[in-house]
Amino acid sequence: MISLNVHFLAVAGLFLGGWYIWKCVSSPLRTLPGPKISLFTSLVLKYHEFRALRTRYIHQLHLRYGPVVRIAPQEASFASLEGIKEIYGSGGSGYDKTEFYDLFQVYGRRTMFTTLDKESSDLEDSPKDALGLHDYAFDGVTHQLFHPYGSDSLRNPQDEDIMKQVAFDDSLQNRLVQYYSPLFHKIIRHVLSIFAKPRQTPLADSLVLSATKETDPARFTLLSRMQDKAYNMNHIDMAAECLDHMAAGIDTTGDGLCFLMWEISQPRSFHVQRRLQEELLSNPDVSFDRLPYLDAVVLEGLRCFPAIPMSLPRYVPRGGRTIDGYFIPEHIIVSTQAYSAHRIDQEVFPQPDLFNPERWLEGKGELDRKRLFFAFASGGRGCIGKHLALAEMKILLRDMYSCFTTFPDGSMVDEDMEMSDQLISSQPRSKKCLLKLELIAKNSHNVKMG
Ligand code: HEM
Repeated sequence: MISLNVHFLAVAGLFLGGWYIWKCVSSPLRTLPGPKISLFTSLVLKYHEFRALRTRYIHQLHLRYGPVVRIAPQEASFASLEGIKEIYGSGGSGYDKTEFYDLFQVYGRRTMFTTLDKESSDLEDSPKDALGLHDYAFDGVTHQLFHPYGSDSLRNPQDEDIMKQVAFDDSLQNRLVQYYSPLFHKIIRHVLSIFAKPRQTPLADSLVLSATKETDPARFTLLSRMQDKAYNMNHIDMAAECLDHMAAGIDTTGDGLCFLMWEISQPRSFHVQRRLQEELLSNPDVSFDRLPYLDAVVLEGLRCFPAIPMSLPRYVPRGGRTIDGYFIPEHIIVSTQAYSAHRIDQEVFPQPDLFNPERWLEGKGELDRKRLFFAFASGGRGCIGKHLALAEMKILLRDMYSCFTTFPDGSMVDEDMEMSDQLISSQPRSKKCLLKLELIAKNSHNVKMG
């Protein structure tokens, strides 16, 4: 009897194994370039995700296989203009966000960022010593959301603690388990939290809950618009939307500035800093958005170090679609990651790893560069905070480099600034960026940027 059962199990196992292999090798994604292993399993991709290295792993695959690459049995990455236009552009409407975005739900609500389909979204170990850029971004975005009830974290340490909770959370691994296996996550979440921290932002939750109760926010704020009766939003709906925008606007702007200022403080990019200072000092009365070199520096910063460098996953709509020459069946996950879109086409971006703001000043190729610039994504689900973010970045750089020259602090090593993936954004691996500031009038200060 026992031996019969063993035989039965062996035959069933062989049959299931054979069926699985047949299913993989006959998959419609078999014609896509990519490593063979990605036809059979997503484990290699997941391994890199858990090590915060997804972006660089996929970029290596693009370098090896080209702008279209299969990264898992049900997932493909595109780094071409055709791919971007089809998946994210208006021609590609119908590519809904995947359940990955459920991880960003707040107060149990779907907000603009976490709404999966376009139609329903038409309403418009923390570091002890990081100061500055994230505080600046936090104060900027909270005042945009509910001025005068926004934060003052540059001066008030209690407000800064709120910012740290949002910006420096370390919940990547915990949230990946939640994404890949929600049930398993529910069962083991208490044990899991010992090894992998969950995302917890109680200070930010209560700041937003109390600010959104105010009935007289400034008219330019998002809160004021949402309080318009026409939108019929209750208190929790408004708080969820504000918390979502707040999270979207802190580490993006803060880390974008951080990587950029680190780069222009390096001896290899010092000529950039000099040229920027020249432009700023000879145009003290010109508005921040009318300075061509400042604009080029910011664009190049976001090209080389996009604050959201990673895949923005979407489902192929019903019936399947042809993307960049390949037919992709419905419900396959497709995406573009800015890190690769900004590097793969060397005719548009020659010497792609070189930080070279001058490339943005050339007339030739301007349209192609702008089309491939994906730091804020594009199409109907592109970043709605883009103009705020650009204004914040330019104002800070103008004020900083009109007065100071920056140098890397001697205690920093290159590895400290390696890009480390978070759930969707990236941050310096060491979570710190120490720069030395020297007044243009020659007095010296030490400041920590983070
Ligand atoms: C340098 C700074 C920023 C960068 C690089 C950036 C980048 C992006 C990207 C790439 C997306 C698309 C995400 C996706 O499809 O998964 C996005 C969406 C979004 N961003 Fe930003 N962002 C920045 C700053 C901000 C700021 C300051 C705000 C706050 C007002 C903001 C609010 C949003 C929102 C609400 C969405 C979701 C839009 C939608 O799904 O329809 N972002 N951002």
